[in-house]
Amino acid sequence: METTFSNLSQQFLVILLALTCLIDTSLGGRQIDPKSSTQFIKTSCSSTRYPDLCCASLLSQASTIQTSPRLIVHAALNVALSNAKTTTASMVKLSKTQGLQPKQTSAMQDCLEVLSDTEDELTKSIGEMDKINSSNAGLTINNIQTWVSAALTDEDTCSDVFEGKSISSNAKTSVKSQLLTVAHLTSNALALINDYASHHA
Ligand SMILES: *[C@@H]1O[C@H](CO)[C@@H](O)[C@H](O)[C@H]1NC(C)=O
Repeated sequence: METTFSNLSQQFLVILLALTCLIDTSLGGRQIDPKSSTQFIKTSCSSTRYPDLCCASLLSQASTIQTSPRLIVHAALNVALSNAKTTTASMVKLSKTQGLQPKQTSAMQDCLEVLSDTEDELTKSIGEMDKINSSNAGLTINNIQTWVSAALTDEDTCSDVFEGKSISSNAKTSVKSQLLTVAHLTSNALALINDYASHHA
């Protein structure tokens, strides 16, 4: 019950924040003009494949992102990583609470491995973002692009977990949507990195 409620309220928050991307509201701290940060996030997100999700996931960090192309990439990577971790936890819970068949158990192991790789690539990328300086920018950004592209691949590996009837349809829907969100957040982070790269070439 608790998980369901927190998933629901999380989804509600995302929808609410997505709406604030459409209507012109400003959120966030007072120090930097919050309106310009909100506008910056909207503009940056408009070049991603999932702009509403991008906005919804980043607007709450407007005071951190300010209007920095580097900090928005950082925030986008962090959001993708934290969603990947939550999704991993949900998958592990699924494997404990649902009576998985042997085939599903093996698919689950593959899926968890993919998620773990995704977490590694995102963690590495976040670490490198902190080390960018004028002399290593080109190479560093290049590495990050490679890693985040790698993090993107193979989300399909997880689809075999959901074959058959042993997982309840509620759990299936919830975890599938979490996996999709991780894939979309990663895609958005990559778009923001590519944008950042094009200004540092
Ligand atoms: C840039 O960072 C690298 C480490 O990634 C370091 O070796 C180098 O000295 C730094 N260069 C400048 C100009 O700060």
